[in-house]
Amino acid sequence: MVDYVYFSFSNQNAMSLRLGDVAPNFKASTTEGEIDLYEYLGTGWGVLFSHPADFTPVCTTELGRTAQLKDEFARRNVKVLAVSVDPLDKHQSWVNDINETQSTTVNFPIIADQDRKVADLYDMIHPNASATATVRSLFIIGPDKLVKLIITYPASTGRNFVEVLRVIDSLQLTAGYQVATPADWQEGQDVIVVPAVSTEDAQKKFPKGLKVVKPYLRYTPQPNK
Ligand code: BEZ
Repeated sequence: MVDYVYFSFSNQNAMSLRLGDVAPNFKASTTEGEIDLYEYLGTGWGVLFSHPADFTPVCTTELGRTAQLKDEFARRNVKVLAVSVDPLDKHQSWVNDINETQSTTVNFPIIADQDRKVADLYDMIHPNASATATVRSLFIIGPDKLVKLIITYPASTGRNFVEVLRVIDSLQLTAGYQVATPADWQEGQDVIVVPAVSTEDAQKKFPKGLKVVKPYLRYTPQPNK
């Protein structure tokens, strides 16, 4: 019995970005003026995220939540940049609604991507989900301008921005030490020594201690705490 699966190739020309790729630079019109992505990020980290449309309920909560977490992003040296295919005047008016309903002040730029330049560059339109609206794509970009994380959520599911902060903590930690973070890890908890480090070397590199559960499963206290 053969099960037939029908694929749509309507997006076959889109270039997908993958982890480790260079995050493409662009210039764009935003609620805070013209922005060059690389200049905006400077030497820090970045979160570039899209949402389907202005004046929609889930997006309103997402942008509000991001604004509420301003200090948390700043503490991690992360700049945030939102993308929407709606025009600038609509963004500006919607920001008033976000501030009012989410009790916050939107404090990051929102790109007016009417020509879908950024959406196409970052493959944020998934035609089999919607032909016109961007999905909820989110890219974390490192100081080296490489893509460190990609998540894609459907329009109906708002993202968890505390999880985004948790991933940033993990990325920033693992960039500086030969460790990885286990499932559900939270800042301050023990981390895992990467398999490339021998147990003998790990004992020297991680003076706070080493717990060897299996030869391949070795924990150490978070080294940068
Ligand atoms: C929203 O942001 O609320 C939304 C947008 C598109 C489809 C469904 C929900």
